[in-house]
Amino acid sequence: MRAVILGAGGQLAYDLERVMQDWDLVLHRHADLDVCDHARARQVLTQSAPEVVINTTAFHRVDDCEAQVEKAFQVNAVAVRNLAQVCRDLDCTLVHMSTDYVFGGEKRTPYTEGDLPDPLSTYGASKLAGEYFVRHICPKHFVVRTSGLYGVAGSSGKGGNFVETMIRLASEGKSIRVVNDQVLSPTYTVDLAEKVVALLRTEAYGLYHIANAGECSWYQFAAKIFELAGLHPILGPTTSAEYGSVARRPPYSALATDAMHASQFVRLSHWTEALQEYLGARDHGP
Ligand SMILES: NC(=O)c1ccc[n+]([C@@H]2O[C@H](COP(=O)([O-])OP(=O)(O)OC[C@H]3O[C@@H](n4cnc5c(N)ncnc54)[C@H](OP(=O)(O)O)[C@@H]3O)[C@@H](O)[C@H]2O)c1
Repeated sequence: MRAVILGAGGQLAYDLERVMQDWDLVLHRHADLDVCDHARARQVLTQSAPEVVINTTAFHRVDDCEAQVEKAFQVNAVAVRNLAQVCRDLDCTLVHMSTDYVFGGEKRTPYTEGDLPDPLSTYGASKLAGEYFVRHICPKHFVVRTSGLYGVAGSSGKGGNFVETMIRLASEGKSIRVVNDQVLSPTYTVDLAEKVVALLRTEAYGLYHIANAGECSWYQFAAKIFELAGLHPILGPTTSAEYGSVARRPPYSALATDAMHASQFVRLSHWTEALQEYLGARDHGP
């Protein structure tokens, strides 16, 4: 089976590539294909004649999206509409990655696929628009929402990942304050990549949440990173208001993976187990 991965070079794409070694893969990095160039995206995808396109691209520096609204919607929504149209025309499957930031964070139990989105930020709104384009235009789609990604390749768009940032700050001997009023489901990109590929073996098209089990605040996530890595920095909790980010983020955005279970998929491991695996794997990363 031939699959095109868009956003190659990113942390999720890196693990998809490893998990999909028995596929015929065509990889496109940002430098060789900007998805905002609609005509070229159509031409490149048509030439590749894939059965599957996996779109991992995003403009996802959440605070920068507030100042660059046009760019956020161009990358996260308008370009995605074009991809959906091309995939529909080629009769191929489109996997499109989305985010827990489509939710408003009013709940205190994990968000299901049936819960109503209510994005608080430009990033969340632009990703939600992208989701709707895919779901409306391309019949053979998997829209996958995930949360708090970390993988050995590190997010190119964000310049690393949260785990590596925490380990670096600890090694610099800095005292660290992390927000304790945003709760999420941190997710290891290897686990996510494996489930995406499992979905692709089915025709159970639709909207899915894929995230490691359980939930924690960013502060609790940091504390567990230091515990498992054997580091002992001075770590304290702070609030979103004190931290003063430009963009609003949901206070609660843990994801329930109900649709995966309805399709008989095994639950992803707990986020603490996934973190342990990541810490073991990072020494052998790229
Ligand atoms: N990271 C998270 O915590 C998180 C959480 C929830 C959902 N997600 C979603 O998961 C997906 C994958 O995230 P990730 O962490 O793997 O991101 P990543 O490492 O930043 O990878 C995204 C890739 O997309 C490329 N890209 C950006 N704009 C592009 C454009 N206009 N045309 C072509 N390529 C472009 C980036 O290249 P450059 O870096 O060179 O621009 C980067 O290589 C995204 O859709 C994101 O919205 C991520």
